[in-house]
Amino acid sequence: MDAIDVIRAKRDGGELTPEQIDWAVQAYTGGEIAEEQMSSLAMAILLNGMTRPEVSRWTQAMIDSGERMDWSALERPTTDKHSTGGVGDKITLPLAPTVAACGAAVPQLSGRGLGHTGGTLDKLESIPGWRASLSTAEMLDVLRETGAVVCAAGGNLAPADRKLYALRDVTGTVESIPLIASSIMSKKIAEGTGALVLDVKVGNGAFMKTLPDARELAETMVAIGTDHGLRTVALLTAMDRPLGNAVGNAVEVAESIEVLSGGGPSDIIELTIALAREMLTAAGLTAAKDPADALRDGSAMDVWQRMISAQGGDPRAPLPVARESYELTAPASGILTRLDAFGVGVAAWRLGAGRARKEDPVSFGAGVICHARPGDKLVAGQPLLSLYADDMSRFPRALEALEGAIEIVEDGTPDLHPLIIDRIS
Ligand code: URA
Repeated sequence: MDAIDVIRAKRDGGELTPEQIDWAVQAYTGGEIAEEQMSSLAMAILLNGMTRPEVSRWTQAMIDSGERMDWSALERPTTDKHSTGGVGDKITLPLAPTVAACGAAVPQLSGRGLGHTGGTLDKLESIPGWRASLSTAEMLDVLRETGAVVCAAGGNLAPADRKLYALRDVTGTVESIPLIASSIMSKKIAEGTGALVLDVKVGNGAFMKTLPDARELAETMVAIGTDHGLRTVALLTAMDRPLGNAVGNAVEVAESIEVLSGGGPSDIIELTIALAREMLTAAGLTAAKDPADALRDGSAMDVWQRMISAQGGDPRAPLPVARESYELTAPASGILTRLDAFGVGVAAWRLGAGRARKEDPVSFGAGVICHARPGDKLVAGQPLLSLYADDMSRFPRALEALEGAIEIVEDGTPDLHPLIIDRIS
């Protein structure tokens, strides 16, 4: 095979053969195809798309580049959730223990944040002692002991995707739906879960800004899952305002603990319960305990505490607090019609909650707490947002990110997506 023939075929709008796809992914991972050739192929895919057979085969080739995990030794069915990422999206934290408390096992490999959306591992690492890196044997032990494990993916899980994602990141080819879908699904299929629920976010704070794009991504991922024998369902959910009130790391852990204690913001509770029900149904546990009961009766909290302890964390230790705070008050009285997820996410990032480069550290205490939600009636001067950072010099740039992200009108209603927009199966 020749890289140039494969590039030309895709450049000219043709369909790649299974042999061409297997060879291209394998040869790139092994260093036989040069970075500039794969960059050109990725651009041809971005411009011309992929058919369903192509995207399924591409995903399979990326899975085959590494190990495929196997949880068949567990007595419970496995089920997992993947979110395409959003601002204040801490749902995994209450969700994984809730689903485990209802009888399924949740083997979740998560990532770190980059840019304005946070990463689950960064949030959990704000818990003193908690460890993200586990061996497969340790993962199995935690799953057996508690029913849920959330940890970092090992280096041999879809290594082709790791290499290709780094290339896409610097060649303007991240935004291709077949490449995003195959990237996400290769990791989730290699993770070995028996069922998968996708939370595809839509809105200014999400990867997919528009409903048609989010729908296409969800449909592509559900098709890949189906083609690989993985029961896959997607929910399209709102990311035009932050999810919950807390955006950051430790502040999001604290909010998740409120939810596990039977309280917390209504959108976090609603989405946790909806995703948990989908995960249990996809795992075949139709007669399982209801997730709302697991949150109410403390059984989800019990799993949370055991899960955190099993990974070296102290679930009762005080969480890190930022050294400095700044209160932003409502500039006028009226209805809050807009609190853009993107603006709040960038503000939290600039406060230190996120990182600009993969190797940067995050500030665990940094972030934003929203004291009002779109639709709330405000009086001028009342607290609107609290900003937290370790260093006062971070506040001006964070405040700049919020300019234009907030709208208060005398009379009006917010024009927002419903929290759960649609379901695709
Ligand atoms: N997340 C992934 O894992 N891959 C992508 O391509 C985009 C987002």
